[in-house]
Amino acid sequence: MENTVTIIDNRTGKKYDLPIMYGTYKTYGAAIRTADLRQIKLSEDDFGLMSYDPGFTNTASCKSAITFIDGERGILHYRGYPIDLLAGKSSFLEVAYLILHGELPKKDEMDDWKHQITHHTMVHEHVKKFMDGFHHDAHPMGILVSTVAALSTFYPAAKKVRDPETRRQEIYRLVAKMPTIAAHAYRHSMGLPYVYPDNDLGYAGNFLNMLFKMTEVKYEPDEVLERALDVLFILHADHEQNCSANTMRSVGSSLPDPYVAVASAAAALYGPLHGGANEQVLRMLREIGSLDRVPEYIKRAKAGEFRLMGFGHRVYKNYDPRARILREMAPKVFEVTGKNELLDIAIELERIALEDEYFVDRKLYPNVDFYSGIIYQAIGFPVAMFPVLFAIPRTIGWLAQWQEMLDDSDQKIARPRQVFTGYDNREYVPVSKR
Ligand code: CMC
Repeated sequence: MENTVTIIDNRTGKKYDLPIMYGTYKTYGAAIRTADLRQIKLSEDDFGLMSYDPGFTNTASCKSAITFIDGERGILHYRGYPIDLLAGKSSFLEVAYLILHGELPKKDEMDDWKHQITHHTMVHEHVKKFMDGFHHDAHPMGILVSTVAALSTFYPAAKKVRDPETRRQEIYRLVAKMPTIAAHAYRHSMGLPYVYPDNDLGYAGNFLNMLFKMTEVKYEPDEVLERALDVLFILHADHEQNCSANTMRSVGSSLPDPYVAVASAAAALYGPLHGGANEQVLRMLREIGSLDRVPEYIKRAKAGEFRLMGFGHRVYKNYDPRARILREMAPKVFEVTGKNELLDIAIELERIALEDEYFVDRKLYPNVDFYSGIIYQAIGFPVAMFPVLFAIPRTIGWLAQWQEMLDDSDQKIARPRQVFTGYDNREYVPVSKR
């Protein structure tokens, strides 16, 4: 009886003992298998009880050992390492290795990982031609999603998703090529020639090179900005079962190649309620425009006229730890770039919201997007690039989630049930009689 829960069906008076499964923690992540509910029936031919959970607000769709979030306490760990520890001491590529493999790399493992990622950064020349076809004002996220999907046609062997060696190869390619495609999307929208990767530079430094190199022979990234971007990449690398990771697993569960699965995850990320939120934060701050207009916007948010973008989170009911790191990092970036005037508006908005009953009662705190946009803008990224900057580091999270799903014998093709609310059997009426 220990570690079970008893359910009494008051319709029939029957009692059911359902086993409880646990993860690492007994008080965080205990679950019953919803398939066990099926035995709760009115009669033999009853389908059995299901659980109804639109938006998966209380459904564990998988077991996972990658990322742990305690939203009530504002904690985020990758593979057991607190996010602030990694942001302070590690690099994005090292964190990417950790997320994928579960352990921090030894020196030779890290050297090999770096070598592999660095040597897959080029894209086929036909990919560039493909990208040329986009309209000059195409949103870079639309370009990224379509181009990553198109890579599927360049690497037909990637279909062998059950083969670990193939998977490894495609993971190298995806992690390496995302910044290249992202940078090309940016250069395309600016009408600038594409810049080839510079393999002497690190992951974030090379990305800056492919974005901003002009006529200089060798691009030298500013150290502070390069590190800031690397930290931003660390903070965005994974976030357990969010909308896009869930999409990656769901699409991946029908076993397509990882290029189309990553494209679908990136499409999920594009939406304003997920990775598109930082773009919306910037637009909102610009619309507010000055400190004296902040109270008016708070009032409107409370009246339900609009949502304060960058506030609130499905999981965090406390200050998002990633937002805290960015709030501290912002002034260092502004020492190099000059101050972004929107920061004052953001800080005032945060100050008022954190004292206001409406936000306090609903546990609405700044999330990662609240400060990332202001930093991205100071570095020189146009607003439309913000979700793209989220997609680059999140690719490793999607791939780690995908790989974990493929290796988990519990996983099946994602196929939820429904509570049917439509008509019963209807007669067909000819059009003349309708
Ligand atoms: N501004 C004003 N009110 C809000 C906000 C907000 N940003 N977010 C939630 N609320 C209110 C909402 O109206 C509701 O109030 P009531 O109970 O009176 O109806 C209550 O808070 C609960 O909201 P919910 O929509 O049930 O919460 P959710 O968990 O479904 O939504 C969210 C989470 C992130 C979609 C939502 O907070 C939101 O739309 N935030 C703004 C968009 C945003 O910043 N998104 C980025 C998320 S973090 C990046 C990532 O991980 O992808």
